[in-house]
Amino acid sequence: MKICIIGAGNVGGSLGKIWAEKGHTIIYGVRNPLTPKVQTLLEETGHSATAELVKDAVQKSDVTVLATPWEAVGEVIFQIIDLKGKILIDCTNPIQPNPEWPLSQGSSAAEEIAKRLSGFKVVKAFNTIGAGNLSDLTFGSLHADAFMCGDDAEAKKIVSQLAKDIGFDALDVGGLRSAEMLESLAKLWITLAYQPGIGPNIAFKLLHK
Ligand SMILES: NC(=O)c1ccc[n+]([C@@H]2O[C@H](COP(=O)([O-])OP(=O)(O)OC[C@H]3O[C@@H](n4cnc5c(N)ncnc54)[C@H](OP(=O)(O)O)[C@@H]3O)[C@@H](O)[C@H]2O)c1
Repeated sequence: MKICIIGAGNVGGSLGKIWAEKGHTIIYGVRNPLTPKVQTLLEETGHSATAELVKDAVQKSDVTVLATPWEAVGEVIFQIIDLKGKILIDCTNPIQPNPEWPLSQGSSAAEEIAKRLSGFKVVKAFNTIGAGNLSDLTFGSLHADAFMCGDDAEAKKIVSQLAKDIGFDALDVGGLRSAEMLESLAKLWITLAYQPGIGPNIAFKLLHK
């Protein structure tokens, strides 16, 4: 699958390297493909990964992953707003307020993105675990859960497979209305990761009896 990753940082870079290893074609969507940081990431990703300007990268891909700070989302969306029919995986967490896009009570970053990108099928995923865990999702005998939500069943099926490719157990929690819960879950992860005696090597898992 051709995967565009917008945001070549902790999350985007980690996902890109893992999916490239699993045989996917990675195109990083960046502001400047020629910076040393991007060139280094391309070398680390290998497998013929490329970097292009955001719109070109999205156009050439089957699936787009949004992994920029929430504050940058307006600038990114402005560039791709006219594209249609694409799947967009939203990994952002609105930790810092985005003055351009204040979130109303009960809303979520994912729903705001979906409202503006009406031609995209938005799935919220990969936002409830620290990027440092993505390269090894095994915790004892269990695998971390990738909680996801979205309104398009076919898009969620594709994202579930991409989650399994990374080593997650995929868990569909419902429509995009559930994104607010997943963004709150990310806040819980961050809070726990900073607790003395806990730290960032943690993940959420739904346990069944
Ligand atoms: N870090 C985590 O553990 C974690 C886990 C789950 C979810 N998240 C969420 O995932 C998102 C990314 O987090 P991160 O830790 O990966 O951030 P990061 O390491 O700071 O990387 C962000 C990337 O976004 C790029 N970027 C910023 N503005 C852009 C724009 N206008 N167009 C294109 N690219 C742009 C940056 O490029 P430059 O290098 O050019 O600035 C950078 O490569 C955030 O919303 C965060 O809340 C993070």
